[in-house]
Amino acid sequence: MSKPAAALVMLLALVAAGPAAGDGGSTRLGCFVGWSPLKTVSSLLCLLQGSSTFPSPKPAPTGQGLSVGYYNKSGSCPKAEQLVREAVTSATNGANRGLNAGLIRLHFHDAFVRGCDASVLLDKTASNNTDTEKTGPPNKDSLRGFEVIDAAKAAVEKECPGIVSCADILAFAARDASYILSNEKIYYEVPAGRYDGRESFADETDQLPGPGSSVQDLKKSFAAQGLSLADAVTLSGAHSIGLARCLFFKDRLSAMDPGYAATLNATCNAGGDSYKVNQDYKSPDVLDNQYYKNIDKFVLFASDAALKSSETIDQVNANAGGYGKWEKDFGDAMVKMGKIGVITSPGYGAEIRKVCSQINY
Ligand code: HEM
Ligand SMILES: *[C@@H]1O[C@H](CO)[C@@H](O)[C@H](O)[C@H]1NC(C)=O
Ligand SMILES: *[C@@H]1O[C@H](CO)[C@@H](O)[C@H](O)[C@H]1NC(C)=O
Ligand SMILES: *[C@@H]1O[C@H](CO)[C@@H](O)[C@H](O)[C@H]1NC(C)=O
Repeated sequence: MSKPAAALVMLLALVAAGPAAGDGGSTRLGCFVGWSPLKTVSSLLCLLQGSSTFPSPKPAPTGQGLSVGYYNKSGSCPKAEQLVREAVTSATNGANRGLNAGLIRLHFHDAFVRGCDASVLLDKTASNNTDTEKTGPPNKDSLRGFEVIDAAKAAVEKECPGIVSCADILAFAARDASYILSNEKIYYEVPAGRYDGRESFADETDQLPGPGSSVQDLKKSFAAQGLSLADAVTLSGAHSIGLARCLFFKDRLSAMDPGYAATLNATCNAGGDSYKVNQDYKSPDVLDNQYYKNIDKFVLFASDAALKSSETIDQVNANAGGYGKWEKDFGDAMVKMGKIGVITSPGYGAEIRKVCSQINY
């Protein structure tokens, strides 16, 4: 049996078996859009379930209940942001600089699934589910930087136990990582006051756009979070840093610059599907507007090249040519993303975790 056929049979068996443990918020199977290795299979699965890919559009997140300097309130934890910054700085120095990219992506993947509630960090949930977001297709063998978050949390817990949420630490860490990787050109204030959730499900990571996404797919997936296509364009600039596996772009080498494609082809032939290459061939460790100059022949994913479409090309060109505007926009868009689905009061389903990978018992 061919690989896709085998995958299809497996997925059909899953559909027949129905969903496993859930908390009521999760009674469906994942329907992954634009995650290329499963492209045909996943669109079939989406069809079978009758689900229309992404949930309906939402209004822009207001972030009500969050505030800048939240932990500076008296009796709180005034050193929180400084301690996170120090933990990120020391955990990502020298050869570990690349981990900063992981931190920025962790915040994104947290935000798009159940909102910014640190659900992406859990190993086991209140419903005893262990098939958490971490194990979902977009995240497995891919997300990195968890140990940096753990180090930051440990430092903060030592100073002021039980006060600073993991969701806020993720947001602070992504900000600090952006500052470091942009060579101090990107800095923004992070409104805080998020609580941590107690559930996390792998199938819900289907809300994350995949590398095979079209502009329409991106529009839908961002709208489902209250974000615009312009936000998608701005935030995609994060692909000027970090790594990507060969399996996500090897089928579209012919759409790239021939010389660049030949180099990638040789690298991927030697390294295999799981081999990771730099996303930005020019300045791989700098969070900058080079991404927009790489569109469309020097970017890896179909979802990147898709930004040359008529709906987005003006913004791409403005970012490619501008000085400082994209950096400012990126900070604003990160703040907006950080407001998605926040829980701002304790209670059932929300707490300040003691350890970021575990709910409180
Ligand atoms: C617009 C839709 C997006 C798609 C389809 C997408 C897809 C991907 C994929 C497939 C990878 C490679 C994963 C792997 O090979 O294991 C990746 C890496 C990455 N993405 Fe995105 N992404 C999107 C938006 C974003 C956003 C909004 C951010 C952050 C603001 C982001 C930040 C990153 C970073 C930093 C990496 C490299 C991670 C690392 O090196 O550890 N991406 N993305
Ligand atoms: C919080 O207080 C610290 C120290 O008192 C100060 O350095 C920092 O700028 C304040 N942060 C915010 C976001 O207000
Ligand atoms: C989760 O597992 C623990 C220990 O095995 C058990 O006591 C608890 O009732 C379980 N909780 C749920 C919601 O199933
Ligand atoms: C990639 O390399 C393989 C094996 O050498 C070759 O058959 C194929 O044509 C190459 N593809 C591209 C796009 O260069």
